[in-house]
Amino acid sequence: MVIYKTKDYADMSHKAANILAAQIVLKPNSVLGLATGSTPEGLYERLITLNKQGEIDFANITTFNLDEYIGLPPEHDQSYRYFMQTKLFDHVNVNLDNTHVPNGMETNEVLACQGYEDLIAQAGGIDLQLLGMGPNGHIGFNEPDDAFATDTHAAMLTESTIQANKRFFASEADVPRSAYTMGIRTIMRAKKIVMVVSGIGKAVIVKQAFFGPVTPHVPASILQLHPDVVLVADEEALSLCNV
Ligand code: F6R
Repeated sequence: MVIYKTKDYADMSHKAANILAAQIVLKPNSVLGLATGSTPEGLYERLITLNKQGEIDFANITTFNLDEYIGLPPEHDQSYRYFMQTKLFDHVNVNLDNTHVPNGMETNEVLACQGYEDLIAQAGGIDLQLLGMGPNGHIGFNEPDDAFATDTHAAMLTESTIQANKRFFASEADVPRSAYTMGIRTIMRAKKIVMVVSGIGKAVIVKQAFFGPVTPHVPASILQLHPDVVLVADEEALSLCNV
């Protein structure tokens, strides 16, 4: 694992964007796994700038997002499809047919989940997976549990994730209780993983995930076993780690 310690959020966003940009330059038809949430927003802004400057070309890029709330249509302003459209896809020259987010309106779980795995396989697998991490160590919606969930599946949100995500909704009652998410195996199959983490609120979980035991009670700890992980984290997030 490589750890990049950055000064602050802006620096983290810049450095992580450089890694994604290098991936796109080196392999213009890369398959990128993407994440939503507050942490990657600055990174996406930087990718938009690089695209507008002609430094990176999304024309042949394929994307797969980690997750989507079950029951939210793509045009809902809290759906992850909407997030990706407004924060990245609408502003770069990606072919929308090549962008994938699990279908939160699909009521047939098998179709939604196995269908997503099949699409990833048909695309040749994920070259680079971008991740954030929840305060409880979740990646995607793989929540702390007694075992690692494997492939794309429907997951119930834990109380702590509902609490963490309610800031985006009018009320706590509006937060969907379940989501389709790539599983741990889906994520671990990516050839390269880049995780972005920022802020003092993540300091405890960063230490547990990357310097504690590998356990499904801290889902991100599994990343210690991946051969090519880059953690890009700011000083606050790394403040409890000796790095
Ligand atoms: C988002 C996702 C989540 C977030 C995590 C951190 O697609 O899968 O696991 O990465 O909840 O969210 P932020 O960045 O808002 O702290």
